[in-house]
Amino acid sequence: MKRALAPSILSFDLTDLRSSVQTFVAAGAEIVHLDVMDGQFVPPITFGDAYVKALRSAAPDALLEAHLMTLTPERQFDAFAAAGCGRIIFHVEATHHAHRLAQTLRGMGVEAGIALNPGTPGETAMPLLDVVDLVLIMTVNPGWGGQAFIPETLGKIRRIRAERPDLHIQVDGGVDPRTLPLVRDAGANVFVVGSHLAKAPDLAAATRELLEIMG
Ligand code: DX5
Ligand code: ZN
Repeated sequence: MKRALAPSILSFDLTDLRSSVQTFVAAGAEIVHLDVMDGQFVPPITFGDAYVKALRSAAPDALLEAHLMTLTPERQFDAFAAAGCGRIIFHVEATHHAHRLAQTLRGMGVEAGIALNPGTPGETAMPLLDVVDLVLIMTVNPGWGGQAFIPETLGKIRRIRAERPDLHIQVDGGVDPRTLPLVRDAGANVFVVGSHLAKAPDLAAATRELLEIMG
């Protein structure tokens, strides 16, 4: 599977966000990862579709993906698609109807992603693999940037990769130059990186370093 880097804007300095996005995209990141939190599924509240719409012009050629850490995620599908998201990822823990919601997204012409918390077994994803474009294995508990990578999630990545050689497997949380080789070798091919890039003194150089490790 082709590999891709998906910087998360969550931990970046908001006053300088457009220029940070332009910098990491120019350095080779192909995806902008947008962490949407509703204060219910996870405690923090981040931003909504209007914010995403305002960012679209900073990276016209990048794939914008919304990672919805929200209850009733389907209420926001239309708004985030209209804001320019080509991929929408929702949590299987946030709905009783993951299969139907994935089909809804594909019916809208948007790539469908499902996310699994560290405590959710990989088997939960198995009946959904035919109707999704991407499985996001959370490598921290969702809600905050800057947490430590949970190594027990590696087995889940391996199991899903063994099942589907052709599916995007994304990892999110605690990914940096030290942990990226672990998730890459387990079979992940889309890498979300937040705080490591947000605190890098040279964002372009840090992006290129991750791309090099990614291979
Ligand atoms: C956590 C978010 C992540 C977060 C990752 O709930 O989904 O995308 O920004 O941040 P780091 O890379 O700092 O763990
Ligand atoms: Zn995320």
